[in-house]
Amino acid sequence: MALFDDLPPETALTQIAPGAVLLHGFAKDGDAALLQAIETVLQQAPLRHWQTPGGYTMSVAMSNCGPLGWVSSASGYRYAAVDPLTDQPWPALPACLLDLAQRAAAQAGYANFSPDACLINQYVPGAKLSLHQDKDELDLRAPIVSLSLGLPAVFLFGTPSRQDRPQRWRLVHGDVVVWGGPSRLAYHGVAALADGEHALLGRRRLNLTFRCVR
Ligand code: SIN
Ligand code: FE2
Repeated sequence: MALFDDLPPETALTQIAPGAVLLHGFAKDGDAALLQAIETVLQQAPLRHWQTPGGYTMSVAMSNCGPLGWVSSASGYRYAAVDPLTDQPWPALPACLLDLAQRAAAQAGYANFSPDACLINQYVPGAKLSLHQDKDELDLRAPIVSLSLGLPAVFLFGTPSRQDRPQRWRLVHGDVVVWGGPSRLAYHGVAALADGEHALLGRRRLNLTFRCVR
């Protein structure tokens, strides 16, 4: 008992690919505190719709916290220490979010996870994220940890080969997905969000991805 006090023993776990797991409802306890920490970050670094190098405007609204943030513009995307919108460093990663990400990584078999970037994505009905790889991080031994809050989404998760058709996974409020090892460079994306109303978040979904960039 004492040994595993910090692990929610009831967490149901689905392996979705080699090295990739879905921790069902992992973040449900404490969701209000997590949301409050996120909203505080978003007051300092507001959500915005980036331009893509291809000249499109993303339907997902984004912000960041932690030492580095993912930014995009017509000239490309990159990790940056300063928010181009405010010219300020990104807000610090709240302790409750770091703790959650580290516990989820450990539960999935990735010890000593120490992210230096957290991308915050907001989806409203119709918003989607096309298939891509997360490959701009230097340390590919570290997994990606992904926290979902609010409206349910269909998460597309494939393999490191673009030719393989991705599987579809329903992610609900409080779910955490961790992918690393043989799946670290798997193609993934999010299908257009269906309309709905979530008790805590209303008509939207938030997703946070924790990354080790440097
Ligand atoms: C991402 O790939 O950055 C986000 C995935 C998600 O929203 O579930
Ligand atoms: Fe991604």
